Amino acid sequence: MARKKIVAGNWKMNMTPSQAVELVNTLKPLVASDEVEVVYCVPAVDIVPVVEAVKGSNVVVGAENMYFEEKGAYTGEISAAMLVDAGVKYVIIGHSERRDYFKEDDVLLNKKVKKAFEAGLVPILCCGESLEQRETGVTLDWIRLQIKSDLQGVSAAQVASMVIAYEPIWAIGTGKTATTEQAQEVCKAIRETIAEIYDEATADAVRIQYGGSVNAENAAELFAQPDIDGGLVGGASLKADFGKIVNYK
Ligand code: 13P
Repeated sequence: MARKKIVAGNWKMNMTPSQAVELVNTLKPLVASDEVEVVYCVPAVDIVPVVEAVKGSNVVVGAENMYFEEKGAYTGEISAAMLVDAGVKYVIIGHSERRDYFKEDDVLLNKKVKKAFEAGLVPILCCGESLEQRETGVTLDWIRLQIKSDLQGVSAAQVASMVIAYEPIWAIGTGKTATTEQAQEVCKAIRETIAEIYDEATADAVRIQYGGSVNAENAAELFAQPDIDGGLVGGASLKADFGKIVNYK
């Protein structure tokens, strides 16, 4: 089955609302593509203006985080229903920066994944190992554990529709990209894990991105790998280079 490539920008904590609209307008002609699905995952305050600014283009909007509770006394949090009503389609869950700086664990992330589906959002679930884990040789075991924990109670049909992003922590924002072989090896292991928990059809359908210092120079080789269905892009998503990554061929 042919999976549609998906290239998502993760803007992280960058771009004020007015800068966001300016960036969307600058990138508009550069990211046009019939072949690749393009997503901008933007800070919460940018969602409303960015949803407006991407209208009429091929870009859809994602959030960078959400909370799992329906609503209520959770000061500072944003619900799935709020995102849906604002026009968001995707939501990044479990980025390593949230796991690390905000102490989000797999129990919490599993709740977020389930809530996202319940609300009609598509999760982009992130996983990835530290440099220390890679050097001690536990990368694949660690990734399998993250995937299994975060997807508990999630149906095969839901997994088939979602996106999993493999982001080695040591490659994020460091300019140090995983080699194509390293990235393919882990993305393949993720697909095998999905086949093991669910079935071949689900593993065939789920889209798996690589993230970590993706740029205009390395995107083509990474995205050509059999188990890499696109990228989750940080720094380079804030520049004209993002157009080159989307149109990597
Ligand atoms: P960089 O592309 O800046 O390395 O960030 C990757 C990332 O964390 C995307 O979610």
